[in-house]
Amino acid sequence: MKSIKIFLLLILVSVILSPCLRSQDLIQNPELDKKVKAFLEENRYRWRDMNVPAIDGQLLYDIILDKGYTRALEIGTSTGHSAIWIAWALSKTGGKLITIELDKGRHKEALVNFKKAGLSGYIDARLANAHELVPGLEGPFDFVFSDADKNWYKNYFMAIDPKLETGGCFTAHNISERRSRFSYGQAEFLDYVKSLENYETTVNSAGGGLSISYKKSK
Ligand SMILES: C[S@@+](CC[C@H](N)C(=O)[O-])C[C@H]1O[C@@H](n2cnc3c(N)ncnc32)[C@H](O)[C@@H]1O
Repeated sequence: MKSIKIFLLLILVSVILSPCLRSQDLIQNPELDKKVKAFLEENRYRWRDMNVPAIDGQLLYDIILDKGYTRALEIGTSTGHSAIWIAWALSKTGGKLITIELDKGRHKEALVNFKKAGLSGYIDARLANAHELVPGLEGPFDFVFSDADKNWYKNYFMAIDPKLETGGCFTAHNISERRSRFSYGQAEFLDYVKSLENYETTVNSAGGGLSISYKKSK
């Protein structure tokens, strides 16, 4: 009886301590944190290229840290706001991000921003049409953020799904549960991903609308 009580007590202690243990597992780099925070603060009101609001960047960051993801893909870099949040989280999990942008000017500006934020080493930024590049990417991935052309969201998802690990997460931006005639691509994607039994999908609407789909099984 006594040994069962000790066993249950140990389980309780490990459950209580698990968030602390997880944060101890993260790579500590206070200098980098300082640099990224300063960059994000300085540029807080300067993102003008369809970039995500900071609250969504923070959400992507939190998901990656919570699950310890390391192999991330972003479709739609623009000038790099979301990529900076994603790469900052990956700097703590030991991961790396591939991000894709079609527009030369925005891709160039993103590269400058990654350097200023101190995160270039965590980002493989590709100048390419994601329609062509995504199906050929090797994978596997455990985290995806889709934020390029909305009418292609379902195609991106279908191309990535076989390369997304079980336990991984596919997120997409500008998703809402409410339908409008301007959001056909997003609705088509959301209906599709919600119809899949091996995914668990929710929509967070605190910012620009983020669908979060966890892959439960193959
Ligand atoms: C909403 S913005 C991305 C914002 C970015 N995630 C951020 O928060 O900073 C969408 C970007 O996707 C790019 N894009 C659109 N179609 C694309 C395609 N087929 N391949 C690659 N990039 C594409 C656009 O040029 C645009 O810069």
